[in-house]
Amino acid sequence: MSSLTQSPAWRALAEHHKCLAQTSIADLFARDPQRFEQFSLEAAGIYADYSKNLITPVTLDLLVALAREAGVEEKRRAMFAGERINITEKRPVLHVALRERSGAPIVVDGEDVVPHVQAVLAQMRRFTDAVRTGVWRGYTGRPITDVVNIGIGGSDLGPRMVCEALKPYAHEQLTLHFVSNVDGADITQVLKTVDLETTLFVISSKTFTTRETLINARTARAWLISGGAPESAVAQHFVAVSTNAEAVTAFGIDTANMFGFWDWVGGRYSLWSAIGLPIALQVGMDAFESLLAGAYAMDQHFLQAPLTRNLPVLLALIGIWHINFCGLTSHLIAPYDRYLHRLPAYLQQLDMESNGKSIALTGERVDYATGPVIWGEPGTNGQHAFFQLLHQGSSVIPADVIACMQPHHALDVHHEILLANCFAQTEALMKGSHVPDEPHRSFDGNRPTNTICVDRLAPASLGALIALYEHKVFVQGAVWNINSFDQWGVELGKRLAVQIEQEIGAAEAPLTHDSSTNNLISRFKARRRQQIEPSL
Ligand code: F6P
Repeated sequence: MSSLTQSPAWRALAEHHKCLAQTSIADLFARDPQRFEQFSLEAAGIYADYSKNLITPVTLDLLVALAREAGVEEKRRAMFAGERINITEKRPVLHVALRERSGAPIVVDGEDVVPHVQAVLAQMRRFTDAVRTGVWRGYTGRPITDVVNIGIGGSDLGPRMVCEALKPYAHEQLTLHFVSNVDGADITQVLKTVDLETTLFVISSKTFTTRETLINARTARAWLISGGAPESAVAQHFVAVSTNAEAVTAFGIDTANMFGFWDWVGGRYSLWSAIGLPIALQVGMDAFESLLAGAYAMDQHFLQAPLTRNLPVLLALIGIWHINFCGLTSHLIAPYDRYLHRLPAYLQQLDMESNGKSIALTGERVDYATGPVIWGEPGTNGQHAFFQLLHQGSSVIPADVIACMQPHHALDVHHEILLANCFAQTEALMKGSHVPDEPHRSFDGNRPTNTICVDRLAPASLGALIALYEHKVFVQGAVWNINSFDQWGVELGKRLAVQIEQEIGAAEAPLTHDSSTNNLISRFKARRRQQIEPSL
């Protein structure tokens, strides 16, 4: 048995759950109608109402005690101090350095990294200003009208989500596109819509070895050249964002057109670095700096607020209550804002690639649940898709709903209906309703939600919101005593894919897999070029 599940706080929480399970969230509101005052908090412009959870002051006290026993405060200090907390890759975890505003030094290997961060930001500003003002031109002398980011995972999800979220702040004449999937349809669809004379490709890859990204980048390069551009045009139509200058050069991009970052920035934590170049191209560097400032404000709150009034800590601990004591291992993200429609996909990588682990820092297998399954779609669409299960399904799924008080449009009626639905859903999920003699029309209720509000979806509030989730994930990983910053689980699939790719490409190749995989490879090789009658 792990020290965590044997800890006094864990055992007290298990006992506490037995008692609390006899009541309901609605009962807790009946006992204290103003409970939202005690179970809500505002920090760095983010307001969170977590009162619609089956928690009491005792629950939170015990959860905070668990966090203390797990050494969350010490682990937080170590992260901000640049210690090598990513123990399997022997790296610091310093995405917070990318948005440090105080000027205080952050030292890695004896060197203050803040000046290097500032230098890259200055390089980004020069470049994005040049592109956005038409100073930077394509090989025929025309200004850039389209930017295509080629990247995957953290080199796609963060920039793509933020660009979607900040569309109201976008440059009028610059259109951002994102290519991530190696499926040829992805890049084909984008290249159909852009003009090679006015298109800039941003090849984003921390390692610059990711096969999907390099294949797409080569296809983009071939498209440019086959479209009539000279080889020299690559310099005007391709820039790279990476930590690997050697691989960038080998691809054929001049390192003068490269924006660097560092191995102490995890891919899923990298949108604050030059990986955020597409964001800065779309909204400008001033807005990008506001995004950083919003995240910095949340960093300061996370660092300074007591655990009992610390928003990332509280959301993390309520999640641990759900996962480890209520047995709820799925978590819905339902933004009630169309601009945040890519937030669930972004949070999937942030949370599931960070905490989808089952080996503790000690090297032992954990004997408790860890990272939840994160999923979601915007409301109100979700209400017409999967909310049925949320209300009457056999699985109870905690949800975060995210609402913006002020929209970027003038359709007030629309916004009133949107927010009315947002609030109604959390009420319905909490209260339920019982129709006498009508079990099919009754609702259990007692289904937990957090309501997270920003006044307006702007660069600063978005930055704070993202940092809130980054630190929530950090705290959960710290309590679970896992390494939230490596991702060895993706390596096996990559290795097998390279082997199968070679077998597919060879006319005759001995298949060495299980019969299912061998059969699938053979079927593909036999059928991929057969004439298939086009049918509607
Ligand atoms: O999914 C594995 C992973 O390494 C992610 O952690 C990363 O964000 C993604 O692949 C892309 O990696 P890179 O930015 O090095 O191309």
